[in-house]
Amino acid sequence: MAKEKKKIIIGSILAALVFLGGAILIYNNNRVVRTEDPKLPPIAEDETDPEVWGQHYPRHYDSYRNAVEGPVVRTKYGGNDKYDKLEEFPEMRTLFAGYGFSEEYNEDRGHPYAVQDIGAINPARKKSGAVCLTCKSPEIPELLEKFGDDFYTMDFTEVKDKYIKHSIACSDCHDPKTMDLHITRPALRKALSKMGIDVDKADRQEMRTLVCAQCHVEYYFAGDKKIVTFPWGESIEGMKPEQVYEYYQSGEYKDKPFVDWTHPKSKTPMLKAQHPDYEFFMNSTHQAAGVACADCHMPYVKQGNVKISSHDLKSPLRNISESCGVCHREDEEYLKSRVEHIQDNNYNLLKVAADRNVEAIKEIEKSLNSPGADQELIKQAQQYHRQAQWLWDWMSAENSMGFHNPEEGLNYIGKSIDFAHKAIRAAQRARGE
Ligand code: HEC
Ligand code: HEC
Ligand code: HEC
Ligand code: HEC
Repeated sequence: MAKEKKKIIIGSILAALVFLGGAILIYNNNRVVRTEDPKLPPIAEDETDPEVWGQHYPRHYDSYRNAVEGPVVRTKYGGNDKYDKLEEFPEMRTLFAGYGFSEEYNEDRGHPYAVQDIGAINPARKKSGAVCLTCKSPEIPELLEKFGDDFYTMDFTEVKDKYIKHSIACSDCHDPKTMDLHITRPALRKALSKMGIDVDKADRQEMRTLVCAQCHVEYYFAGDKKIVTFPWGESIEGMKPEQVYEYYQSGEYKDKPFVDWTHPKSKTPMLKAQHPDYEFFMNSTHQAAGVACADCHMPYVKQGNVKISSHDLKSPLRNISESCGVCHREDEEYLKSRVEHIQDNNYNLLKVAADRNVEAIKEIEKSLNSPGADQELIKQAQQYHRQAQWLWDWMSAENSMGFHNPEEGLNYIGKSIDFAHKAIRAAQRARGE
């Protein structure tokens, strides 16, 4: 009897040990590295150099540097190949005539390149001032603190040469003390508080999207001080392009709607969309299901026996199993074909919208050159053209070729085509046709 008991006890202890060993193995294999090396001095409050952060987190640093050290890959509609968008979309030369993008518009290459890429563009495009650097470098939050709102109108080249040392890096998204995600750009904080949202109360999953919303958004430079401002309304609905359009027509812009540039051919007072990735993603199937930008763009990846969030922010089509596989069990080829199906539809309709907008420009130009044409109808045509091209541009400037929110995307492009037709008709009627 005593012998039996002893056997059971030894057996249980062995089983417990095996279980514990297994648990430790699984834990180690799935551990996410988030502890600093205690032998190193802590990361300083104002440290912006990713290499210094990288001493504490070498795996994260390597992953971040992969955008530079890794391969150049072009997907059907994305990737980090710095190709010339004007070759792919020659209609942009007409649509953006009179504006910088008609002469130079390159696909982007990734966060570690942001400063280098903006440094290389045509000098005429930097005349807005230091404001153009706002979303490019981790040195910006300190400069904003130092110079306040005067920062935005400082000279671009002077600020870049004197103060900018690094391209987008760790401190843009992380608090050096706690490593928590944090918001460093005041424009997002202000825009959200207008909606009654306190960004400091956002939970972790929300922050995995909000850190991106600091930069991947539509914005404009408000007033003489050129303060970076997000043109959002007072609710989430206010991020839709129709509402943003209304914003540019109302409030302080009621008597004099906001104008980015005047089109040299149609004389339309134009709006230019930036990169409304966050706004376009809102209310999508994925966003409604609680999926964050980081879920697809920063998936967990194995490095030896540990896991880290990938810091090689790139097209998820380059690592579908890691980016989508957590939630979707289908195979990679199938998922890729679903993405490309969505993107093809979006692309084809976007091309139609671009052509109709080009036609609207030509018709308005023709009316402007026709003596005796009805000036009121020409004005109406220009108004429609402004709306049409704005909606086209929103979809042209968002970065996923429609994937982030497929239904909404086709809806906006459809409206763009409708407005372009109205512009064409009004311009023709102005000539009595
Ligand atoms: C459900 C997954 C998913 C989510 C969530 C998601 N994206 Fe994407 N994103 C994609 C896919 C797929 C593409 C298309 C990539 C391609 O065409 O190669 C893409 C493209 C992009 C691109 C262009 C990449 C390139 O290679 O040109 C950017 C920038 C981007 N997303 C930013 C964001 C931001 C910011 C958010 C959150 C507001 C977000 N994404 C949310 C899947 C996602
Ligand atoms: C564009 C924003 C962004 C930048 C830049 C960035 N990170 Fe992160 N980082 C994230 C996000 C998002 C997570 C996931 C956080 C979460 O899930 O709570 C993360 C997570 C981490 C973690 C926690 C462990 C993990 O893997 O999830 C560490 C450590 C880390 N980052 C280090 C770095 C270092 C070092 C750099 C600079 C080389 C850096 N990060 C740059 C957004 C960023
Ligand atoms: C401080 C501003 C800033 C923040 C924060 C930021 N981005 Fe970016 N992002 C940029 C800029 C600027 C570029 C273009 C860089 C270049 O010149 O190639 C870019 C490019 C990208 C690309 C394209 C890379 C490629 O291969 O074409 C992806 C994908 C991306 N960002 C996703 C994200 C996601 C997801 C987040 C949040 C976790 C995020 N970004 C946070 C400013 C930012
Ligand atoms: C964190 C979970 C999660 C991740 C990561 C994720 N998805 Fe999804 N996806 C969902 C959910 C939830 C839905 C809603 C439909 C459903 O319940 O299946 C969905 C729907 C879809 C749909 C159909 C709806 C639509 O918007 O067209 C496609 C296509 C899709 N996902 C592709 C992808 C691709 C490609 C990736 C990787 C780049 C990805 N998803 C990453 C959770 C996820």
